Amino acid sequence: MATHKLLLLPGDGIGPEVMAEVKRMIDWLNAQGIARFEIDQGLVGGASYDADKVSITDATMAKAVAADAVLFGAVGGPKWDPVPYEVRPEAGLLRLRKDLSLFANLRPAICYPALAQASSLKPEVVEGLDIMIVRELTGGVYFGEPKTITDLGNGQKRAVDTQVYDTYEIERIARVAFDLARKRRNKLTSMEKRNVMKSGVLWNEVVTQVHQREYKDVTLEHQLADSGGMQLVRWPKQFDVIVTDNLFGDMLSDIAAMLTGSLGMLPSASLGETDVKTQKRKALYEPVHGSAPDIAGQGKANPIAMLASFGMALRYSFDMGALADKLDQAIAAVLAKGLRTADLKSDGATIVSTAQMGEAILKEVQALHG
Ligand code: IPM
Ligand code: MG
Repeated sequence: MATHKLLLLPGDGIGPEVMAEVKRMIDWLNAQGIARFEIDQGLVGGASYDADKVSITDATMAKAVAADAVLFGAVGGPKWDPVPYEVRPEAGLLRLRKDLSLFANLRPAICYPALAQASSLKPEVVEGLDIMIVRELTGGVYFGEPKTITDLGNGQKRAVDTQVYDTYEIERIARVAFDLARKRRNKLTSMEKRNVMKSGVLWNEVVTQVHQREYKDVTLEHQLADSGGMQLVRWPKQFDVIVTDNLFGDMLSDIAAMLTGSLGMLPSASLGETDVKTQKRKALYEPVHGSAPDIAGQGKANPIAMLASFGMALRYSFDMGALADKLDQAIAAVLAKGLRTADLKSDGATIVSTAQMGEAILKEVQALHG
């Protein structure tokens, strides 16, 4: 059996609590001989700043490069508001994304039947929802240069961020999205702001060309990103796969998260290019929710997004799709039994702690495994 090297970076806030539930799952898989994971752990974000005055050390970066996959919790919190911009907690995550070239961010938004009531939208709007947001993750305004604040000397300052995309960046993210659509309901919606932004004009043009050249069998639609956001809350089931840039993807995926009942439900996978020789790709898996400092350390956090992120690692890094399916089924089963963490509170439900939710999901996986 192959040994898979995993680097765990729990980070800040609720990160360590939700990561503990993934460890519980991994320990069981290892003990049963179902898989063989070799685990290493490191600091990132505020935790790394407190220890080493940087948001991630070079040594931890080297471990991330050497790992088959990185599991990431969350970073940030008011405690680190005063630290310099360059070493703020989020910088650790951005460095991981950039240095590992994790350009493709997959954010599936699935509304489990038991949670249709928990969404802020009407149940019929979200029931059975299953969409995939593909967010470009290493380009755009997050990384474009110049990125500066200049003192103009007249009591004014000028802040500049740069939105920049090259053809190859749009082509490769479009291919990831078209490939996913082919395995799903064969529909892709591309979102940009071509009515205002040059990068939107190029985005639209390149996605259209890739479609014409390589993916004519997939239905392609274009939507302006603002209108796309509106459509996401109006009738989200019209979508299958959505492809969009770094900043729009950040915002649209938070919107999509609420369709599923809670931000605590959304996992994600950040993937690099597949190496032609080894057929391996760099990968990082993280829940979309943040560090939630207000509830950290109280056992209130929902571990489902973190566990489902591990599920995505099983699927996309380790070719263990059947096991990932079981994990998804286990999550659905536990929710159907009425177990809820505090973020998912609903009438008649049993409120459980982070650890109780993790244990219950593990029990279901064990039962499914026979
Ligand atoms: C996300 C987060 C990050 C982002 C932050 C923590 C830097 O909001 O993954 O969606 O903006 O990309
Ligand atoms: Mg975000």
